[in-house]
Amino acid sequence: MDLIKEINNLKHKKNAIILTHCYQNIEIDSVSDYVGDSFYLSKMASKSDADIIVFAGVYFMAQSAKLLSPEKKVLLPNMKSGCLMADMIDAEKLQEFKSKNPNIPVVCYINSTAEVKALSDICCTSSNAIDIVKSLNANKVLFVPDTYLGKYVESKLKDVEVITYNGFCPTHLRIRVEDIELARKNHPEALILAHPECHKEVVKGADFTGSTKEIMEFAKTSKNKKFIIATEKGVADRLKRDYPEKEFILINEKVTCPNMKMNTLYDIYNVLLNEENEITIKEDVFKPARKCLEKMLGQ
Ligand code: 13P
Ligand code: SF4
Repeated sequence: MDLIKEINNLKHKKNAIILTHCYQNIEIDSVSDYVGDSFYLSKMASKSDADIIVFAGVYFMAQSAKLLSPEKKVLLPNMKSGCLMADMIDAEKLQEFKSKNPNIPVVCYINSTAEVKALSDICCTSSNAIDIVKSLNANKVLFVPDTYLGKYVESKLKDVEVITYNGFCPTHLRIRVEDIELARKNHPEALILAHPECHKEVVKGADFTGSTKEIMEFAKTSKNKKFIIATEKGVADRLKRDYPEKEFILINEKVTCPNMKMNTLYDIYNVLLNEENEITIKEDVFKPARKCLEKMLGQ
């Protein structure tokens, strides 16, 4: 069976679109309508007039698409593909964190469950976190779940204390400062591009820090010819494909997110055919979680 052809036929027949995060297996791009980072994909989900969205990403991304497009059927190719960081905090733990730090606005990274979003004041992604925290005009904010992104934001803002929850991304923490030092030594002419979920020392040692899409944009527009990619492998794979005249080196072979890689073309075909793995969100959580996301998009 020609999976790509079959998926494209089903998409056409069912008025479906496929949103794909840049960390997905690269062959999924061949059936995708939009490929990008979490912020870009949330915007596309909210604008689309499709009847079905297949979200090739992790669970919280499909959940966010459902929150922003309640009238659409949102399908996740593989229900096991959750984000390990998002699962580090739940409603109960957030309540506890809030009661230890009362009367402080809560910013939640989009890598969080709908329950956590429902208890937060505003959402952010790695591409807008600094602006979102700034927009609150507060001298203290609580930031969940990623301590590294939260502390990165704090380092970029004067006079704002960012109190972070102790969540983290196991994939990005596999990049060590020693990798940066080695890359500098072996490739002195290369620019190092890092995601803000990395260790503080890794970010400090990089030439540019940004979301996956920002990293890709930087590599595209830079006059430099060689880059070290300090984020998930999918970004390096796409850069190599799209800009063969430049050189991209993944900082180490361990930077792959196993959960992102769970979705396959066959899973996509299957969920589209049978309209399975539909995302549903509890009624009491839906409205406040949607508000938290919409607030971000309105900024
Ligand atoms: P982006 O916001 O850059 O898409 O990152 C999402 C993510 O899961 C990073 O690990
Ligand atoms: Fe979650 Fe990290 Fe995977 Fe991103 S790379 S989806 S933060 S576990």
